[in-house]
Amino acid sequence: MSLGLQLPWQFLPGLLLCLCVGPWAEAGKVLVVPMEGSHWLSMREAVRGLHARGHQAVVLSPEVTMHVKAEDFFTMKTYAVPYTQDEFDYIVMDKIHLFFERIHFLTLFLETMAFLKNVSLVFQRSCEELLYNKDLIRHLNASSFDVVLTDPVYPCGAVLAKYLSIPAVFFLRSIPCNLDTEGTACPNPFSYVPRLLTMNSDHMTFFQRVKNMLYPLSFKCICQLPFTPYARMASDLLHREVSLVDIFGSASIWLFRGDFVMDYPRPFMPNMVFIGGINCANRKPLSRVCIGAFIQSMFQVEHIVLKNSLLP
Ligand SMILES: *[C@@H]1O[C@H](CO)[C@@H](O)[C@H](O)[C@H]1NC(C)=O
Ligand SMILES: *[C@@H]1O[C@H](CO)[C@@H](O)[C@H](O)[C@H]1NC(C)=O
Repeated sequence: MSLGLQLPWQFLPGLLLCLCVGPWAEAGKVLVVPMEGSHWLSMREAVRGLHARGHQAVVLSPEVTMHVKAEDFFTMKTYAVPYTQDEFDYIVMDKIHLFFERIHFLTLFLETMAFLKNVSLVFQRSCEELLYNKDLIRHLNASSFDVVLTDPVYPCGAVLAKYLSIPAVFFLRSIPCNLDTEGTACPNPFSYVPRLLTMNSDHMTFFQRVKNMLYPLSFKCICQLPFTPYARMASDLLHREVSLVDIFGSASIWLFRGDFVMDYPRPFMPNMVFIGGINCANRKPLSRVCIGAFIQSMFQVEHIVLKNSLLP
């Protein structure tokens, strides 16, 4: 009986606090560290959505950019970088045509590696200008952000979140070299999760499984080049050994811009959320050419299905 009378009084201060703080507690302060190019175009829609729900977003960007530009639904905070717009455009855009040309495999491989090296260096320098900018870091630290929203393909945001001890939310289409499954300690069986560029499906023959195991080995080396500088920076700033898995494992939530309609099914962890469809925010009517190609492909599929179903 006495317990029944005491409890409401104990809860009253808490209830009052909730009532007072409630209306403001809903709005959060989000620090956005975007990845350039088309990656930003998807993230921009998510930031627009956050703003519409009353959250405050600050987008952190280098002064030299491709697509990241100021908008009225977020605050833009820029920092200086040691390269010009022309240099940036030249490095990022000048060799893009290589990927659409028919050239020898070895030439393509070497050119791709050179391209990757150049591009990684630009992003690495941009990140250094951000993380070692004492005034900017002090300002960000004092701004008490609730969360860092970032694309881990550019791991600078993840390192910054770790440095400022702010929870990170990753927003991505995918990341090579299984950094997502390693970061989330997610099972990733070779036997039915097809690896990048293998063209395998989730049903594999013995040799396809062997291919599925061998491909990631070569990618492991290629991934060292763009990603290890971030582990080095994190170790330097945090004064302890920080690995790539530590950086990628630090995210609270992974938001994948995919779903099991587009991708093959695979195991996932409770903090991996599939938000495929977010890229369809800007719906437009299909062009005649598009509809034509779609109908044609539908007929082909139907033809194949019919043909196969007639086979014994
Ligand atoms: C890489 O950068 C160097 C020096 O800026 C340049 O000469 C070379 O063409 C670039 N290569 C690629 C593939 O972007
Ligand atoms: C952020 O501020 C806190 C409290 O003043 C301080 O302890 C911490 O070292 C600061 N972090 C960075 C990265 O400057």
